[in-house]
Amino acid sequence: MKSDAQKKIQQLREQLRRHDYLYYVLNAPEISDHQYDTLFSQLKELEKAHPQFITPDSPTQRVSETPMEGFTQIRHSVPMLSIDNTYSADELREFDARVRKGLETDKYDYVVEPKIDGLAVSLHYEKGKLTAAATRGDGRMGDDVTANIRTIRAIPLELLPAAPIPETLEVRGEVYMPKKAFAELNQQKIEADEPEFANPRNAAAGSLKLLDARVTATRNLSFFAYSIAGTAQPLALSHWDSLQTIKKLGLPVNPHISRAKNIEQVIDICTRWTDKKNKLDYAIDGMVIKVNNYAQQDTLGTTGRNPRWCIAYKFPAEQAETVVESIEVQVGKTGTLTPVANLKPVKLAGTTVKRATLHNFDMLAKLDVRCGDTVIIEKAGEIIPQVVEVKQKNRNLFDSKPFAIPKRCPACGGPVKKDDNGVFIRCVNDNCAAKLMERLFYFAGKGQMDIENLGPALIEQLVEKGLVKNYADIYKLTFSQIVQLERMGDKSAENVLDSIEKSKTQPLWRLVAAMGIRNVGGQSAQILADEFGSLDALMNADADRLETIDQIGPIVAKSICEYFHDKHNRKVIEELLAAGVKPAGPKQKTSDKLAGKTIVVTGTLKTFSRQQIEQAIKDHGGKSASSVSKKTAFVLAGENPGSKLDKAKELDIPVLDEEQFIKLIR
Ligand code: IVH
Repeated sequence: MKSDAQKKIQQLREQLRRHDYLYYVLNAPEISDHQYDTLFSQLKELEKAHPQFITPDSPTQRVSETPMEGFTQIRHSVPMLSIDNTYSADELREFDARVRKGLETDKYDYVVEPKIDGLAVSLHYEKGKLTAAATRGDGRMGDDVTANIRTIRAIPLELLPAAPIPETLEVRGEVYMPKKAFAELNQQKIEADEPEFANPRNAAAGSLKLLDARVTATRNLSFFAYSIAGTAQPLALSHWDSLQTIKKLGLPVNPHISRAKNIEQVIDICTRWTDKKNKLDYAIDGMVIKVNNYAQQDTLGTTGRNPRWCIAYKFPAEQAETVVESIEVQVGKTGTLTPVANLKPVKLAGTTVKRATLHNFDMLAKLDVRCGDTVIIEKAGEIIPQVVEVKQKNRNLFDSKPFAIPKRCPACGGPVKKDDNGVFIRCVNDNCAAKLMERLFYFAGKGQMDIENLGPALIEQLVEKGLVKNYADIYKLTFSQIVQLERMGDKSAENVLDSIEKSKTQPLWRLVAAMGIRNVGGQSAQILADEFGSLDALMNADADRLETIDQIGPIVAKSICEYFHDKHNRKVIEELLAAGVKPAGPKQKTSDKLAGKTIVVTGTLKTFSRQQIEQAIKDHGGKSASSVSKKTAFVLAGENPGSKLDKAKELDIPVLDEEQFIKLIR
């Protein structure tokens, strides 16, 4: 017998799910945001009073409160391919000619969809419940971003029973950041004195790859489904019909998809969208054209990376004309000098552009950009605005001269050197303040030591006053030194010290990433921390040892050795540790009982949540994977196991229940 509270909880959940569906999928909300919030609070209250009824698929359980240490990998059941691009009507006609030849008929039709400028993800539903989500990664394996995906309200945690729910369903689509959310996020970044995101795609990718789902939840990401993969039983015979079905199951499908009978209709649709693309409240960078019929898609097949039945039409990059007011040279964290053009502000593809990178001095010389020039700028791939052409005719020949390549560093006056490949010029002064500042911004940044209250404006002052000469100095700062800086009160100085203190016990991988070792980003840092477990062990590893690690090649190994052999770097690290920085090593393994074993979990377990079982497998030296293959050591099956169990039987892979598993690790 269900209690009243339980019934009410169930009722509220169903109501909220229906309103999510009306809002995100049908674009036809029936209640106001306020009314939605009221229902949501009612559910939260009831669940608080009756926690025994909380289930992971409740709309209140989207956000996980425990940040992850790093991403694990998920193997895609079918590779996630990319699409070939075209840029003109003629290229589309050539594509159509190839399709016709491949199919040996002219009886086929197309589906035309906006190409959403976000990032591809794959969602796994088992028995209607969202069980896993992965990024595209290298096409075969992607990052497990389940916790972050769950925070996106447009993505149902549970499918609607409106159509028969397939046993397993892998839905692919694009996570994106609506333009409004993007503008708000960048405004916050400006206020926090942090670098802005170049475009909604980078912002969406950055937000999905955060280790803390609570932050992802604030980023207002959204989603459109655009295909299915890996269903045992096809949902329909054509792409169009599948999209209609997944829409009924509660997944948002872009409302502007259409069908075209022939390529001329496709071209017509593409031309119309070129004109009106800016009217949408999310960015699209082209249209995707797909042969509709699945059997015909199969006949056409793929060419390694791209399907032959699908093509992207990319909109021409938007351009604008403006004037170069000055050219300045910036110094990056490894000392690279980058010329940047300051422009007369101009509107381009929805934003006001004031600066454009000139990339390097070779490029600058080739384009021959000069102060006062009229130039054409373009947002290539909608990333950073670039100068693509100089209007030489408009140039005043009397007072225009080519920009001189700096012979000294514009920040410190120190010597500069051309890189081995001759493209980049670097400042080689180890004490260059500009270089130091960039390194410190990076050290304290979100992806590294994450020292919340130590922003660029503060670092600049600390460097200028000579209070910080390397990253170890950050940990020697005193209250009186900080409080005397501009715009610093007692409270804010305390906050700065607090966040510095907190960062002392950041995990080891963050410290390794923060050091700014060339070629070592967050991901490599995680691999290194997992492998060595302590800074000491990593510092003493030679190149041969480093190269034995999967995913660490000779170039990265060399950079690591060079960094740790450098006397100055060693001294700074010594000071850092002496100042109390004590990176938390990766969790010690409890045993080696599962060493070398890859384990697949399916169904619901009684004593472990998904996260706990994955941790337990890791703690005992094993690896967890999401799909069964010959390499799987065994499948751990709980209640209501999915198709993975069938697959295990088919491949003759041992299956353990929860009790057997517990015995094994005990
Ligand atoms: S279909 C094999 N449809 O564009 C076909 N992709 O450049 C797989 N994208 O990786 C993709 N909107 O991230 C498809 N309506 C759409 C899309 C779309 C955006 C992205 C997707 C893909 C990239 C290819």
